[in-house]
Amino acid sequence: MKKEDPSSSTSSQLILESGDPKNQRRRFKRLRRRSFLKGIGVAGAASVGAGLLAQTSSAFAQEGPEEHSGRLTRGDAALLRFAAAAEILETDFWVQYNELGGIPDSEVPGGSGNAPYTAALAVLDEDMAQYIHDNTDDEFTHQNFLNAYLASKGASTVNLEPFRTLPGSTATGSSGKLRLTNLTQLTLDTSWWTRYRSSTKNPDLGDSFPQAVPTLAVGQHTAIPRTDNDLNDPNFLQAIANTAAFHFPTIEQGGNSLYPSMAQRATHVEVLRILISIGPTETMHFQTWSDKAGNAPPLTDPTNGLVFPDLNAPPFGGETFETNLIMPEPCPFLSPKLPIVSIIRPTETKGIAMGVVNFLTAMGLFIGQSPQFFEVLKDLAADADAARRGR
Ligand SMILES: [Fe+2]
Ligand SMILES: [Fe+2]
Repeated sequence: MKKEDPSSSTSSQLILESGDPKNQRRRFKRLRRRSFLKGIGVAGAASVGAGLLAQTSSAFAQEGPEEHSGRLTRGDAALLRFAAAAEILETDFWVQYNELGGIPDSEVPGGSGNAPYTAALAVLDEDMAQYIHDNTDDEFTHQNFLNAYLASKGASTVNLEPFRTLPGSTATGSSGKLRLTNLTQLTLDTSWWTRYRSSTKNPDLGDSFPQAVPTLAVGQHTAIPRTDNDLNDPNFLQAIANTAAFHFPTIEQGGNSLYPSMAQRATHVEVLRILISIGPTETMHFQTWSDKAGNAPPLTDPTNGLVFPDLNAPPFGGETFETNLIMPEPCPFLSPKLPIVSIIRPTETKGIAMGVVNFLTAMGLFIGQSPQFFEVLKDLAADADAARRGR
């Protein structure tokens, strides 16, 4: 197995590969900036002590420009770091949901609950608050474990705390702390609904899928009460809760694809084990939430034309939309010549990390974030996508 040489980096390789001195200078300038930014998001293992969450902007001071991967291959470390970044972002927005619509407690602290929003979520299922709590708890453990594992191998960890700059909700129940993600301007691609119900199409074979809630895919919609004013109109509040209920599976189906997609390029069997052990928990989240989303009451948002249709009625309805079909329909896989099979899709590994960044960005989850945030995230994604399975 090829070990990471801490003195080498993608950056220095790029410089060496460039023949033209003018190009070299240009690249060096760009890479110095890239390295500086990476220093913000990637913390040296030394900064990871007992309290991982206690990591703060000290990453600025403690981390030099180069990337450390310790005893992991560079590719394996990059795959785990991208997963860690995704989990940190997941944790951040699940915390916002838990503060307002979950069960704030010692296990998942922060906030004090918002009764009207919690009640609107409970219209879909009386266990919504508990599930939100448990999903949030899971995400905390994902980010903590991944960073702790990286640190245990002497590799750099991920710290996005310097980007905790977004204001979040000021509604009753919110802790009011600054956020990494924005849940108030979401545009949701709900084509996963039809993708997992199709027995003839697979996105990895170039197929595309209709939206379950077409109006969620346009405009911007809040999934949490932004202020207590958002609690006044019961139809608007239910539209907010419905938006959250479709946001949950929209996110979790992403994790459900991300892990098996990245796992194909893991080198060390233990890194493979981590990826294929966390991934299926995202699948468990996805299936739970896809079941709950099916209970979203049909309604029209009185403020902006957002329509939650009755998915069991025309022009929807039929196998592609029926709400009680929450197990994946078997579909073509690898080749249309092979028999259909029940699988996770997509699982194409090429470009998966950048694909996830683009997916989350298009969702509006990062509206308000700084250009530096996007650079760090893209940097982590580019490194993960560059990982190659070694022998
Ligand atoms: Fe997760
Ligand atoms: Fe998740």
